[in-house]
Amino acid sequence: MPERTKAERDLLAKAAEVFPGGYTGNLALDDAHRFIIKGGKGSKVWDVSGNEYIDYLNGSGPMVLGHAHPAVVAAVVAAAEQGSTFFATNEQAVLLAEEVVKAVPCADKVRFTTSGTDADLQCMRIARGYRRRDKILKFEGGYHGTSEYGLMSIFPRPDQLPEYPEPVANSAGIPSVIGETVLVAPFNDIETTTAIIETHHDELAGVIVEPMQRILAPKPGFLQALRDATAQYDIPLIFDEVVTGFRLAYGGAQEYYGVTPDLASYGKIVGGGHPLAVVAGRDDLMSTYDSSMVDPDSYIPQIGTLNGNTVACAAGLATLAEMRREGAYERLHGTGRKLRDALERLCGEAGIAMQPSGEDVMFGIYFSDRPMVNYRDTLLADSAMMASFNTTLLEEGILKSLPDKFYPSLAITDEDVDRTIEVFSHAIDKLAG
Ligand SMILES: Cc1ncc(COP(=O)(O)O)c(C=O)c1O
Repeated sequence: MPERTKAERDLLAKAAEVFPGGYTGNLALDDAHRFIIKGGKGSKVWDVSGNEYIDYLNGSGPMVLGHAHPAVVAAVVAAAEQGSTFFATNEQAVLLAEEVVKAVPCADKVRFTTSGTDADLQCMRIARGYRRRDKILKFEGGYHGTSEYGLMSIFPRPDQLPEYPEPVANSAGIPSVIGETVLVAPFNDIETTTAIIETHHDELAGVIVEPMQRILAPKPGFLQALRDATAQYDIPLIFDEVVTGFRLAYGGAQEYYGVTPDLASYGKIVGGGHPLAVVAGRDDLMSTYDSSMVDPDSYIPQIGTLNGNTVACAAGLATLAEMRREGAYERLHGTGRKLRDALERLCGEAGIAMQPSGEDVMFGIYFSDRPMVNYRDTLLADSAMMASFNTTLLEEGILKSLPDKFYPSLAITDEDVDRTIEVFSHAIDKLAG
């Protein structure tokens, strides 16, 4: 268990006074394991007491180059020295928009927001405006930020699973009327999903999906079938690429899985660790942001104080330039593959039933003997084993997303991989214990 200095204990006490629950709301740790981050460099982060962690939490995904990458730091400093935000179109914003349009198959045009939540909200609004209908179909367990719509059926409890397509509000404070505007389908189940689309197509504004839902990879053919089912009724298909964008491939899940949606949201990597997200889409859909192109009733105002601010755009541009370097994606996939292979081998040797999940660049595991295909399957995995595994990792200096995700970065070294596998073996030994 890492030691805590007085300075860190004091900060933890202050955090308990000023934050509900004693933390920022991200990364819920129990009292015994709470810590305060001091900083990070490359593949490592340190807490205020100086304990070092190999980082697979990765700021929840944006830090694909590792922390404080010199090219990103230099770009941020240079941009900040020239003024950080102007509430007006600026050079960095134009250059980043151009790069996203080049990279993303569905992007004829883009607009910036400052969070994935807002980008998803915007995509759903564009679909509603285009279709002049209210209902959005989402997938159970899919995460689209913390808007009223995004919080529907993100983690319904086992005692709270309605018949599809009925949604469940997974937060207090959501107007009950929102429930009338959201339909829910099971990920990876194209028969049920298609049946819902067939029944409700005349009320549907759009369908939003994480092309890889959390750490559940799409079954071969699922995304294409969803594309076909939505195209049949001219219902915009929205890919939430906040996590997958520039991670699975430079062109995101659209490139990786070879399916092009009508709209997509991007966040995390595209802002290089700064508050920036992107709404991308087909020209005619994006025109609803252009008052000169559409009638006043079809126009959507899209305004935000920090949208496209120069520092975030500069960080995004510098990050994407690194990701375009030869071999970047091969290395990222390769690091993830080594770690996943080791976990499978160790669990196999210990006789522990485990389901590997996700893709190499963003993966996880479930302790279960049944394949994990959709959200309801994941409820049957052994959460106590997962908690024990995560605790061993944290206590031995491996930081990851909770409960189940690993984000490898390009900064992870061979030594980091070796050390991580060593800690995996301790964690699995304890489980086999
Ligand atoms: C798939 C997905 N969509 C949307 C969001 C929301 O993004 P943000 O936290 O920037 O609002 C997240 C955040 O983790 C996400 O993983």
